[in-house]
Amino acid sequence: MYSRLQIAFKYINYLITARNGRGHGMHSPFVYELIRNVLMDKKQYKAYEKPEAYRKRLLKNETILEVEDLGAGSVSGKTKQRKVSEIASTSVKHRRYSRLLYRIASYYKYGRILELGTSLGVTSAYLAQVPGLEELVTMEGAEAVAELAERELAGYGKVRVVRGEFDGQVAGGRWQVAGLENDTGYRMEDRGGSQTNLEKTVADFQRIDMAFIDGNHRKEPTLRYFETIFSKTHAGSCIIFDDIHWSAEMEEAWDIIRKDARVTLSIDLFFIGIVFFRKEFREKQHFSIRF
Ligand SMILES: C[S@@+](CC[C@H](N)C(=O)[O-])C[C@H]1O[C@@H](n2cnc3c(N)ncnc32)[C@H](O)[C@@H]1O
Repeated sequence: MYSRLQIAFKYINYLITARNGRGHGMHSPFVYELIRNVLMDKKQYKAYEKPEAYRKRLLKNETILEVEDLGAGSVSGKTKQRKVSEIASTSVKHRRYSRLLYRIASYYKYGRILELGTSLGVTSAYLAQVPGLEELVTMEGAEAVAELAERELAGYGKVRVVRGEFDGQVAGGRWQVAGLENDTGYRMEDRGGSQTNLEKTVADFQRIDMAFIDGNHRKEPTLRYFETIFSKTHAGSCIIFDDIHWSAEMEEAWDIIRKDARVTLSIDLFFIGIVFFRKEFREKQHFSIRF
């Protein structure tokens, strides 16, 4: 992980070198539209109210949770006592980005969404209100945190919290009951060896329109999660990565992903990176845009 000072330098460099965030001189009509209608959209949507009221409650919540230390740099099995208010102020995405994700999903009419790293469920609460949402699946490995998020998200509908480590093995092994084929017994389905929690979750999706990868910020898992999720995406989908400049490993992962031939457009907003797979672009494009 980079030091605060290193990140500050990188951020200043991004501000200097990134394209202006108003779309001037932008030749790609798709990106111009994304900037003008999504990034620059300052409207105060009704959907912003409930998640922010929830965030306020969390910031005042002094309950202490026993939290598994997952993700980058953690030692498996370690737990830490953390106040809910502290988690809410350090691990939860800033409202600027939760709102942006809500606007992206709403603008492109994304119905099936996957989030890796629920934390307390603030961004999930935004995404749960996307008009026309068919399903939001959000995954969290820290039990007590997932429980709190699940309680809040129960009030939104169409949201499912999957508990457990992304790479944890799915209980039940390789064969799974797929349903009753006839009245003589079950039809068993080969799920292709022992799956990870993420593989099983992705396999259960009919398709993935948008995914937000916001947990376990390391190179190898990030690349693996990209591959797993990509299998259920389509030309209109997008995958959003959090903290792409957080460490050298994350910068390497981001660089590999944005250069991947399947990615036709990548957008660097410094704290998040977005990749699209649309076929209409004549050539592969990459933009760093001030946000
Ligand atoms: C930065 S927080 C997510 C914030 C949330 N997306 C939001 O916008 O409010 C990352 C979360 O991912 C979880 N996490 C990290 N690595 C994980 C792993 N390998 N398996 C499951 N959960 C993990 C952490 O417990 C943490 O709650």
